[in-house]
Amino acid sequence: MPNDVKPLDSCDIVLLNGPNLNLLGTREPEVYGADTLNSIENRMLVKAQSADLKLESRQTNFEGELVTLIQQIKSVGAKFLIINAAAYTHTSIAIRDAISAVDVPFIEVHLTNIYKREHFRHHSYLSDRAEAVICGFGPMGYDVAFDYVIGKLKGSL
Ligand code: DQA
Repeated sequence: MPNDVKPLDSCDIVLLNGPNLNLLGTREPEVYGADTLNSIENRMLVKAQSADLKLESRQTNFEGELVTLIQQIKSVGAKFLIINAAAYTHTSIAIRDAISAVDVPFIEVHLTNIYKREHFRHHSYLSDRAEAVICGFGPMGYDVAFDYVIGKLKGSL
């Protein structure tokens, strides 16, 4: 049964994490590392706060919830999306269409180097629409994405 995800509040940056990323820390740690999603989200909150920007962060295992959250991005005033759509990266035309519909700049993040893994992970439905794609840096990829987005929003990039 899908748990309804809390709607987005007004913010500058939206961080979305897709299926199974709630298991970070215990999920295949040899592949995804030891950091929990909570620790990554908290670090990003601090980063956003210290730049005087408001971050809204959500994780869901449900494709339709990701679509619904993406649809809210413009109405809450967000200027940038950072998304790890996890397995839906490789399958979801619906998520691609939602991002196109809101026409918001976004960064695609993956913890792992998806091009070094199974062939089915080599295709992303999002990459050709993304402002940047970050993969293979582990949790540090989120830091890179945030530093870039903060620089863009604060006019230093
Ligand atoms: C992932 C890579 C995807 O292929 C996989 O399905 C995930 C995580 C990553 O962060 O490396 O769940 O997006």
